Amino acid sequence: MASVLESTQVSDNRRDPILTVRNLRILFPTRDGRDTVKAIDGVDFDVHAGETLGIIGESGSGKTTLGRALVSLIQPTEGQILQDGVDPTTLPKGQLRKHRRDYQIVFQDPNAALNPRMTILDSVIEPAETIGKGSDSSRRQDGFAALARVGLSPEMADRYPHQLSGGQKQRVNIARVLMLRPKVIVCDEVVAALDVSIRGDVLNLFADLQREFGLTYVFITHDISVVSHISDRIAVTYLGRLMELGPAEDVIDAPLHPYTQALLSAEPISLPSTMRTNRRVILEGEIPSPVSPPSGCRFRTRCPVVQQRCKDEMPAWRELKPAHWVACHFAAENRAQHSNLEIALHMKQGG
Ligand SMILES: Nc1ncnc2c1ncn2[C@@H]1O[C@H](COP(=O)(O)OP(=O)(O)O)[C@@H](O)[C@H]1O
Ligand code: SF4
Ligand SMILES: [Mg+2]
Repeated sequence: MASVLESTQVSDNRRDPILTVRNLRILFPTRDGRDTVKAIDGVDFDVHAGETLGIIGESGSGKTTLGRALVSLIQPTEGQILQDGVDPTTLPKGQLRKHRRDYQIVFQDPNAALNPRMTILDSVIEPAETIGKGSDSSRRQDGFAALARVGLSPEMADRYPHQLSGGQKQRVNIARVLMLRPKVIVCDEVVAALDVSIRGDVLNLFADLQREFGLTYVFITHDISVVSHISDRIAVTYLGRLMELGPAEDVIDAPLHPYTQALLSAEPISLPSTMRTNRRVILEGEIPSPVSPPSGCRFRTRCPVVQQRCKDEMPAWRELKPAHWVACHFAAENRAQHSNLEIALHMKQGG
C-alpha cells in the first residue's frame, strides 16, 4: 500500500474538470419554517484537476454552503455537482463512502474536527481508522509521517488539542485529511482564525502539499489577500450567486464586475495593478437577506453604477473574455471605464 508520504504525479492536464457544478441551488427553511433561505441560488462552474480555485465574497454570500456541498456534506436542492464525472447522490451507500474520501474539507475553526479528549496522533489516525485503511501499526507509522510532513515534531503526537496553538491545530487538521490521500481539499477560511504572523507559513504548507500530492484546492475566504497569490483562478460570490470568475491575474488586475472592483479597492495591501484607482469604493449597507434577495441583479442595491435595467433583468452569466466570466449587464462598459479610471468618478469615494 502506498505510504501517505508517497507523492502523486501532478497531472499536466489542468483542464480536466474534477468538480462540475451545474444550476446549483441550495435552499434552507428559515428558523420559523415560513420562508426559504436561498443560500446558493443558481451557480455554474468547473474546478480543474490540480488547480487552486479561490472563492471570495462577504460573509453570508453562501461560500461555506457551497464548500460543504462540494464535498457532499450538503445535498443540492436543485442542480448537480459531479465529482470526477460522478454524481455522488446516485451512488449506493458503500460506494459513496469510498468515493467521498477523495473530497475533504478543512474548516476555519481549528477545533472543529478535533476531539479534545483524543491525543494528536489518535486524531490524525482517526479518519483512516474509520474507513479501515491499513493496520494499527501502519496507521501509526503513517500518522507520524503525516505529522512530520505538516511540520509537527513527534513530541506533538501524545499531546492534546488544548496544548497546541491554533496554527499547530490547523496543521493537525491538514495531516488528518492527508491520511486519506484525497484528490480535492476544500479550505474554508482555513487561516482566518490564525494569527496574521503565521498565516503565510500555513498557506505555504498548503502550496507545498499541493505540488507534492497533486491536490486540487477550493480556497474559500472573505479576504482577497489570502487567495490573490495562491489561486490559479478566482470566483467572486455575492448573495448566493457568482458575480465573476476568471484567471487570478485577470480578476485582480482587470476586474469586470463592480462588486469585484469594490472589493479590490478596499484591499489594504498593494496589489499588482496598473488599473487600480487610488480612490476607495465604499460598499454601503449590509449584504441583503438571502430570504428575499433583490430582483434583477443581486448587487443592485449596493452597486455604484446601477441602472434601471439592473432592477428589471437578472444579468446573464457570460464569458466576456476567454475564460473570464461575469454577471453584469454593463461589464464591457465597466471595463472600458475602469481602465481609464473614469469609473471612480461614478463611485462613492472614501479614504
Ligand atoms: N443550515 C442552515 N439553515 C438555515 N440557513 C442557513 C444554513 N446554513 C447557512 N444558512 C444561511 O445561508 C446563508 C449563507 O451562509 P454561508 O454559506 O455560511 O455563507 P458564508 O460562508 O459566505 O458566510 C446565510 O444567510 C446563512 O445564514
Ligand atoms: S448589473 Fe447593474 S447593478 Fe448589477 S453589477 Fe452590473 S451595473 Fe451593477
Ligand atoms: Mg463561511
